[in-house]
Amino acid sequence: MGISTSVAEQMEHASWIRRMFEIGLELRKVRGPENVFDYTLGNPDVDPPAQVIEALRRVAAENRPRSHGYMPNAGFPEVRAAMARNLAQRTGLPFTGDDVIMTNGAAGAINVLMKSLLDPGDEVLVLNPYFPEYRFYVENHGGRVVPVETDASFQPDVGRIAAAIGPRTKALILNSPNNPTGQVYPAETLRAINEIVREPMVVVSDEPYRPLVYDGTKQPETLSLIERSVLAWSWSKAMAIAGERIGYLALSPRLTELLPLRNACAFVNRILGFINAPAIWQWVVAEVPDVTVDVAHYEFKRNLLCDALAKMGYDAPRPHGSYYAFPKTPIPDDMAFVNLLREEGILAVPGRGFGREGHMRLSITIPEAGIERSLPGFERAIRKCR
Ligand SMILES: Cc1ncc(COP(=O)(O)O)c(C=O)c1O
Repeated sequence: MGISTSVAEQMEHASWIRRMFEIGLELRKVRGPENVFDYTLGNPDVDPPAQVIEALRRVAAENRPRSHGYMPNAGFPEVRAAMARNLAQRTGLPFTGDDVIMTNGAAGAINVLMKSLLDPGDEVLVLNPYFPEYRFYVENHGGRVVPVETDASFQPDVGRIAAAIGPRTKALILNSPNNPTGQVYPAETLRAINEIVREPMVVVSDEPYRPLVYDGTKQPETLSLIERSVLAWSWSKAMAIAGERIGYLALSPRLTELLPLRNACAFVNRILGFINAPAIWQWVVAEVPDVTVDVAHYEFKRNLLCDALAKMGYDAPRPHGSYYAFPKTPIPDDMAFVNLLREEGILAVPGRGFGREGHMRLSITIPEAGIERSLPGFERAIRKCR
């Protein structure tokens, strides 16, 4: 087989995702699709807001000149200027359109930044448990992921981060609201991180879940609080348009290496084969940048699921943001417990898939009726552990 050793190893590492998918197919055959409750997928279960579809129609009907051709690799200048105005208003920093690179979602943004920053062997700190794709986004460009444990509430442990910084550390990835834990990092934590980040290290704030916050929680502005920061933003979850692949990288105007980094990111967007972010969607998001899905929809399902699980005896705190719950499994072996759930037709991702055993990730993008109908299965599974 001609597949590279590194890709073969990465596929092996990611094989639990494939296994879950295969198990899901098998279960649906055996139990019937209506009796399988899939909590594994993080795919928005709502349609994009009407304003987004209206903006899409307007943009298509206008058929602006040069709407469909190549453009500067970083995106349409007018769109980037609109994003910069928005960022300047939010952060109080003097953003210009040149500081914004339109990307293929947050995944595109992080890959572009990693390729721009990393030499082989450079290190990127991630906070454990973490979104497992980070490992690939870093290894794609010769880097090495260094997981740093979070505290008992899955909040960053600034002392541990400081201790993990070494001569090869190029970046720290923060993700708040967090996948998989649902934690939101407070401003004082971001200020404390600002104190320990020194050139050439940068903080990448990956915020695709920014608007999905509950109970009045607010996601602080990382760009305002951390001088050496870059925002990886995406409308995938905010507008429920994950398949459209639209987001941006915003480079803090306070970065000393701002000019070369801007040029590098625009160039890398091209040479990674993205060339540029999707043209139509750049115009659409520029028209309605702040429109979001109805967050109350997720909040309602979060309450329904977490409160029911807590009543049954699960240690299942309500997440403050994102659309994931990360309860403890009633037994330390998360894989064994996920198998017990499977017997009930419930599919969950074991915490070890994110670097933290003894937990499971449940996505609340599952329909409300699915949550209701799966609850007796959760109850039977925890009883089997007693
Ligand atoms: C933490 C995190 N970062 C990045 C991404 C990638 O998002 P996008 O669709 O914008 O590329 C995801 C997608 O699930 C995610 O959960």
